[in-house]
Amino acid sequence: MKIRTLLLSLICAAAVVPSVRAAEGKDKDETVLGNHMDKMGGAFRKLKRQISDATKNADSLTLVATIKAESAAAAKEKPAWHPEDAPKYQAQMKDFIALVDKLEAALKAGDNAAAAKLVEDLGFAQKKGHTDFKKPDEKKKKA
Ligand code: HEM
Repeated sequence: MKIRTLLLSLICAAAVVPSVRAAEGKDKDETVLGNHMDKMGGAFRKLKRQISDATKNADSLTLVATIKAESAAAAKEKPAWHPEDAPKYQAQMKDFIALVDKLEAALKAGDNAAAAKLVEDLGFAQKKGHTDFKKPDEKKKKA
């Protein structure tokens, strides 16, 4: 009888542990803001590679549209690490979006030199945003 009880406990523990782990991982890594950031990350990576190539400006404009939509949605959220810093975070996101608008205008004007400089500025804004508002151990992720 005792062995049966022990076995049952072991089986229950084995069933519960992985789901608890999965839930912890989800809570830690996935936020609405994080999802917007991830989508922005994919577009920004590609944009950095092709921003100086004028033959790709039409595609670059679609990438900028993604960054614009995702950053507008991200600006409505609060940073998970320090939600009380939301007003400062939102102000910084507003400045970021203003740079994205300038980038869109430069691409529409066919000014790839100005566009490349603005992409660099967006990279600096990203670094500052992450230093100020992103939980330090999350910075290890490629962002
Ligand atoms: C080109 C610009 C940017 C890119 C490509 C980018 C990308 C990313 C990525 C890939 C993550 C990890 C998402 C995850 O946890 O799955 C992240 C997280 C985060 N980013 Fe950005 N980011 C950018 C700009 C910014 C700016 C300007 C700010 C603040 C003003 C910011 C604030 C944050 C915060 C607070 C997090 C942590 C998520 C949370 O608190 O829920 N990011 N970002």
